[in-house]
Amino acid sequence: MHCGNQADICTGAIRTPIIMANSSTLPEDPFTLDPDNPDLLVYTRESGANQLGLQTKLAVLEGGEDAVVLGSGVAALHAAFFTHLRAGDHVVVSDVTYGAVWRLFAELLPVKSGIEATFVDITDLDAVRAAMRPTTRIIHTEVIANPTVKTADIQVLADVAHTAGTLLTVDSTCTPPPLFRPLEHGADLVVHSLTKYINGHGDAMGGAVIGPRELILPIKSEAMVNVGAAISPFNAWLIPRGSITLPLRLRQHLAGAQHVVEFLDSDPRVARRPSGTCLAPAA
Ligand SMILES: Cc1ncc(COP(=O)(O)O)c(C=O)c1O
Repeated sequence: MHCGNQADICTGAIRTPIIMANSSTLPEDPFTLDPDNPDLLVYTRESGANQLGLQTKLAVLEGGEDAVVLGSGVAALHAAFFTHLRAGDHVVVSDVTYGAVWRLFAELLPVKSGIEATFVDITDLDAVRAAMRPTTRIIHTEVIANPTVKTADIQVLADVAHTAGTLLTVDSTCTPPPLFRPLEHGADLVVHSLTKYINGHGDAMGGAVIGPRELILPIKSEAMVNVGAAISPFNAWLIPRGSITLPLRLRQHLAGAQHVVEFLDSDPRVARRPSGTCLAPAA
């Protein structure tokens, strides 16, 4: 939980300070800088000390090689799609997704970028396979979807995606580590709204994409630098601070959920409804 934090070399302070500067001093000869290194401290839309610390932490927590952090969860989702899709591509999307993702694929990207999407019941593998086209580049799902808690089998979807030569992108906002790590189950990119469980205190917005360096570097160079939805250094400081208590908060959430389950289970007026059936309307 403490990964990414660095003691301040000037003061010896044990926590990374908030560095709000929008740029850093350059060496005498700026041409000595490696233009291909996205983690150089030059300009804060491209990298900053607090952003870099948060990226390191998230990569470690998710078991990924690299991470990119942006101003919100939606900015992170858009950055992944903007970078890894192009005009004429097709996407298979879970029919239960966070609303902004639905609007991106149903309304905005088809018109603005010529990207087509098919929405499917992500738990129905035959439907997922049937929706695949030669132009499909991404299958996108949430692990436990907001808002209906439809739950995807990430391992099986990864097999379907990789057999077809596509990426599996997974929004894991509702299943933060250590609960679940999609990369360990074959996902190619994991997205988080850091605004939710990971920060956990309702006082900062942020988003992240985590995965192998070859898929994250293009997101940094294309979406972060040129679309520019950078996270503020203050939020990139608040989020690691909030996330230190993540394992403790998750334990409490799980205990609370267990209480609700036991309460409902023990009440004879509550029955489990077989999936696909509707309750008869009250007489
Ligand atoms: C599953 C999921 N993904 C993405 C988002 C968007 O995150 P943000 O509000 O940080 O843009 C949300 C927000 O509720 C969410 O629930």
